[in-house]
Amino acid sequence: MNLAHAHNIADLRALARNRLPRMVFDYIDGGADDELTLQRNEQRLRDIELIWDVLVDVEKLDASTTILGAPSKLPFFISPTASSRLFHPRGGELAVARAAQAAGIPYACSTIASTSMEDIAAGHQGPRFFQMYVWKDRGLIVETLARAKAAGFSAILLTADLPVPGNRERDFRNMFTIPPKVNWKTATQTLSRPGYLYDLITTTPVKAANFAHMRIDVSLIDFVAAQFSQKVTWDDVAWLRQNWGGKLAIKGIATSEDAQRCIAAGADAVWVSNHGGRQLGAAPASIDTLPAIADAIGGQTEIIFDGGVRRGTDIVKALALGANSVAIGRAYLFGLAAAGEAGVARAIAILRNELLQTMALTGRTRIAALTRDLVFRRTLP
Ligand SMILES: Cc1cc2nc3c(=O)[nH]c(=O)nc-3n(C[C@H](O)[C@H](O)[C@H](O)COP(=O)(O)O)c2cc1C
Repeated sequence: MNLAHAHNIADLRALARNRLPRMVFDYIDGGADDELTLQRNEQRLRDIELIWDVLVDVEKLDASTTILGAPSKLPFFISPTASSRLFHPRGGELAVARAAQAAGIPYACSTIASTSMEDIAAGHQGPRFFQMYVWKDRGLIVETLARAKAAGFSAILLTADLPVPGNRERDFRNMFTIPPKVNWKTATQTLSRPGYLYDLITTTPVKAANFAHMRIDVSLIDFVAAQFSQKVTWDDVAWLRQNWGGKLAIKGIATSEDAQRCIAAGADAVWVSNHGGRQLGAAPASIDTLPAIADAIGGQTEIIFDGGVRRGTDIVKALALGANSVAIGRAYLFGLAAAGEAGVARAIAILRNELLQTMALTGRTRIAALTRDLVFRRTLP
């Protein structure tokens, strides 16, 4: 199968699996503990059924919206994921950012990106957001915020669900680290993927590019140990709010109580997420936590949703259950790993086409019309 024959995100996943060394594929594909949350994220979305209106004029469909103040042609955007050059050494973050730009959707850059925010800004025009954690070193945060502002990132996405890394056992089994260390296991897996290996050795080494000047690009675990603080609280969010004048989203929210705290802390968006099933291994499906949050705070502040989105119907379901926009993670990463920028473009196009088709088939022509009555409620046992 090649890219032209990839008709859905599962096809892109199969292509990614063929192209990547196992440790890299597993890093994308895996989750925490027994991966039950990872599976639930997808399964519970799938379980939702949609109902439709007939004889509606659906000739003109408008899927455009605004995400964190930025115009977007589609109600979904790129979720921040670490180290894109690991998945496609030649394309990396710029491949993702350019595909997002071409589709008219925002791009979010991870703190642990393998391309610096300045290099991304130089190669990307369009809305872009920067994901951060609250680190021990406040000076480093202030410096990073100033760099993000200068590089045209309009929103900070504060990831709040990673006080410690999740238990990702596939990574332990594969002896996988970021950047990868050479050992017998990683070497054997990489040698079995000559196309990837060629790209890896003919491009610059994969680093935590935003902090390359600090020489902390040893491994993700070392970085976490050095800079992550387990003492971060809502007071730190208030401090961040005072030090950042742009938009602020808090990512990793699962309860209406925490959603209320986001509002009290001055956040512009509540991001409902369980980190794609990569953190707490016993978490409920992200979609199951959304309705209560939407009931509690919907209309007061923007709601972003992620977790398990692999189909255009999944996007419609999340919007119908109260999200204002949806972030995609693995869906575009499989495309990136399969074929760089063209692969990300294919992933976005697949989801866009499925979304528009679902809007037509449900008789809803605008994003604001994707409301909860679309979700089918069974009355028979
Ligand atoms: C390989 C990978 C790396 C990720 N890295 C980050 C990261 O650096 N920061 C972050 O906030 N979230 C990160 N995430 C979580 C995503 O932003 C998002 O919450 C999750 O992927 C959504 O679930 P989905 O993959 O099922 O769409 C990562 C996810 C994956 C799969």
